Amino acid sequence: MVSFQSLLPWSFFVLMMILKSSALDKYTAAVYEHSVLLPKPTHKPVSSEEALKLMNRNMDILEEAIKRAAAQGAHIIVTPEDGIYGFQFTRETLYPYLEDIPDPQVNWIPCNDSQRFGPAPVQERLSCLARDNSIYVVANIGDKKPCDYTDPKCPNDGRYQYNTNVVFDSDGKLVARYHKFNLFMSEAQFDFPKEPEHVIFNTSFGKFGIFTCFDILFHDPAITLVSKLKVDTILFPTAWMNVLPHLTAVEFHSAWAMGMQVNLLSSNTHKIGMNMTGSGIYAPDGPQAYHYDAESENGQLLIAELHAHPSVSPTYLHAVNWSLHATTIKPFPQNNTFSGFIFSDEFTFSQLDNQAGNLTVCQKDLCCHLSYRMTEQQEDEVYALGSFDGLHVVEGEYYLQVSFSQGEVLLIMIESGN
Ligand SMILES: *[C@@H]1O[C@H](CO)[C@@H](O)[C@H](O)[C@H]1NC(C)=O
Ligand SMILES: *[C@@H]1O[C@H](CO)[C@@H](O)[C@H](O)[C@H]1NC(C)=O
Ligand SMILES: *[C@@H]1O[C@H](CO)[C@@H](O)[C@H](O)[C@H]1NC(C)=O
Ligand SMILES: *[C@@H]1O[C@H](CO)[C@@H](O)[C@H](O)[C@H]1NC(C)=O
Ligand SMILES: *[C@@H]1O[C@H](CO)[C@@H](O)[C@H](O)[C@H]1NC(C)=O
Ligand SMILES: *[C@@H]1O[C@H](CO)[C@@H](O)[C@H](O)[C@H]1NC(C)=O
Repeated sequence: MVSFQSLLPWSFFVLMMILKSSALDKYTAAVYEHSVLLPKPTHKPVSSEEALKLMNRNMDILEEAIKRAAAQGAHIIVTPEDGIYGFQFTRETLYPYLEDIPDPQVNWIPCNDSQRFGPAPVQERLSCLARDNSIYVVANIGDKKPCDYTDPKCPNDGRYQYNTNVVFDSDGKLVARYHKFNLFMSEAQFDFPKEPEHVIFNTSFGKFGIFTCFDILFHDPAITLVSKLKVDTILFPTAWMNVLPHLTAVEFHSAWAMGMQVNLLSSNTHKIGMNMTGSGIYAPDGPQAYHYDAESENGQLLIAELHAHPSVSPTYLHAVNWSLHATTIKPFPQNNTFSGFIFSDEFTFSQLDNQAGNLTVCQKDLCCHLSYRMTEQQEDEVYALGSFDGLHVVEGEYYLQVSFSQGEVLLIMIESGN
């Protein structure tokens, strides 16, 4: 028989162990770039059975990725925007794919109690995948919310349809729901929420925030989550089309994580016919893993270890005050500038016409300085440095300050200009 006396230190030790392991300094993150199976194009809505059949085929593939990630010790896995039902819908044809997704405050484990808020087979399956594999699962699905004449903003068809991220914790509980605020122009099948939602949740491996794709170009909710709500990691399902010069997934998203000094788990849809590829696990000190594949139709699982609280990690680089830094730079000479259009923006360019050189190119308030040395330059190549500072108006409207140095693109531009 064990006396109480001898039990006490032992139970104290166990408690210490639990406390110690309950807050992690590091964790393992997974993202899955998924080659989504698209529904057949249709003008008439399919039945909800047919919609579920397609979603289950996509979830079969996600299930394999979730199991592999969990087997490698991942605490959380992010899957892409539109990764369960695809895209190119009207409001009507999307409807059979939607579920009513409750506010996480209801404290719900769909895997245990799937019928509590009406039929929810997709949430049930995602919740069971999270619970059965003891891993946080992040997915993008569609929410429907009925409304009526008492709401002057209620759409004519009597419902809101939201592009929605959901997070299930490792017990299968719904812990986050985020309705995308900055819809991309072609997302007419969805409504945007009246106000941007700033969705955060705590875990034993840090504080998380979440948003979707085009949101990353705007102040809310993205910047607020980091600067005011102080999250450690951003979860970022996306269906990102790579467009030069600056809207390229790996470069843009890794730079955002470095500039904002947070972790960013970016999971892209894989559709090379639409230039969609490029996923990564990005930390403030650089990408820990990334994937870009414009050749094959395959999905890809990425796994990497991250600091749970990058702002207090030893490798944290204290944020540079770039405004201050810029005032200390003496501009190089501006040489032979010319203008040209890239992605419909009129850049100011200067050619890199020596083996090595120092160059400054300014447009309005934006000056970019470059020190360069060429390792190799083919006869038919031209290199230039360009700057743009203004309102971008194609495929979305937003102000940009962007500089880049590029070879081949310029060549194409000069040819088409002639
Ligand atoms: C979920 O259901 C299982 C089996 O029905 C049960 O053992 C478990 O306690 C439930 N979990 C919660 C958190 O309700
Ligand atoms: C998360 O945890 C921190 C520190 O333990 C606490 O201050 C904060 O209120 C928690 N936030 C949420 C959303 O639970
Ligand atoms: C994909 O990128 C290529 C090269 O930039 C471009 O020519 C093509 O139009 C793009 N495709 C789509 C669907 O945007
Ligand atoms: C950065 O530097 C600028 C210019 O010197 C200054 O106005 C600003 O307050 C600084 N910002 C921070 C966060 O220190
Ligand atoms: C400026 O351009 C001219 C002609 O292209 C070139 O000969 C010269 O070296 C350039 N100067 C600098 C500082 O790059
Ligand atoms: C560029 O400027 C740096 C100082 O900023 C100088 O050391 C270097 O020699 C310059 N390079 C060229 C090719 O002029």
